[in-house]
Amino acid sequence: MKTVYLQLDEQHIDAAALHALKEAGNALANGALVAFPTETVYGLGGMAFDKEAAKKIYAAKGRPSDNPLIVHVAATEDVKRLAKDIPDVFYRLADAFWPGPLTCVLHKQNEVPYETTGGLDTVAVRFPSLTIAQELIKASGGFVAAPSANLSGRPSPTTAAHCKEDLDGRVDYIIDGGSAVLGIESTVLDLTGEEPVILRPGFITGEMLQDVLGRSVVTSSGMDEKDPRAPKAPGMKYRHYAPNGTLLVVTGEADAVAKEICARLKQDKEQGLRTGVICCETKKARYEADRVVTFPEKDAPRALSKMLFFALREMDAFGIDAIYAEGVSEEGVGAAVMNRLVKAAGQTVIHV
Ligand code: TXA
Ligand code: MG
Repeated sequence: MKTVYLQLDEQHIDAAALHALKEAGNALANGALVAFPTETVYGLGGMAFDKEAAKKIYAAKGRPSDNPLIVHVAATEDVKRLAKDIPDVFYRLADAFWPGPLTCVLHKQNEVPYETTGGLDTVAVRFPSLTIAQELIKASGGFVAAPSANLSGRPSPTTAAHCKEDLDGRVDYIIDGGSAVLGIESTVLDLTGEEPVILRPGFITGEMLQDVLGRSVVTSSGMDEKDPRAPKAPGMKYRHYAPNGTLLVVTGEADAVAKEICARLKQDKEQGLRTGVICCETKKARYEADRVVTFPEKDAPRALSKMLFFALREMDAFGIDAIYAEGVSEEGVGAAVMNRLVKAAGQTVIHV
């Protein structure tokens, strides 16, 4: 198929932009797949109540069909169509964080197809904050299932160019709304048990959730306690965000980290490998590598989150074999950023 590209400016949604979003929304309603920007990463949308659309999403991404999709809405009250036995805490969290980067897992209504929920009796729901996303969802009828718009296993897309790299010719529309502001996916919070549990860390941190709920919120290790083989968030068991080269994360005191990376770069060079480093701006000059991608030192975890997936794709574009990334503090949003970075590295982290 030939993918149609729409270019829109989130800051200037005029009549022409609304018209274009209406067209893409109608296409969605008629079974098309539409990649669109959100504040976290780009999503690949299809109608949530349409089994065939869900199957098409899995096929386009090359994604295992037991990995459930998040359903995106453009109004909190629409969640009632998707979920039942909704606890009060959900409404408190929605009041505090929606629209925004929080996904809640609830008990699904019968009408939500198992194709969308990966065979689960629960459904994940999110109300994204970009006007482009909201207008698209409204134009389609209100319920858009959307995983990140990347091929399964690749870094999540934070620009329309990333979507094009992975999905050109595989989806009907790609809407370009500029670079994603946050750069990592939403926090996934399970509200179906006695206690709220974070299944995937994100911008809405455990502390932020605790402030609203007045109780502590635990983060799941990814495994169901009763069955150690069954991942609770099914997405957790798959290889994620992986660049083609090998990635090693190095944490510790800044100078020691730089020394360690320099020593390894030297060895790699001797073996004829192409090398890359993801590091804080102030350290750039210390690394002799084929590609160095930097993030500003100020507010480092936040800055790294915005460019992490971009940096991983850059390394692929430059054919880098050996990639080193400086770790950041795990305070606040740093926990989510390190979660993605460590996953991308296949858990290979050294502390110096
Ligand atoms: O920020 C985001 O969440 C982006 C944008 C596009 O909204 N979407 C996204 O979707 O990251 P995806 O499919 O790449 O990741 C969804 C995650 C997966 O880890 C999946 O297993 C989990 O949410 N998930 C979805 N439905 C679930 C459910 N019913 N129970 C437990 N986990 C669920
Ligand atoms: Mg994803």
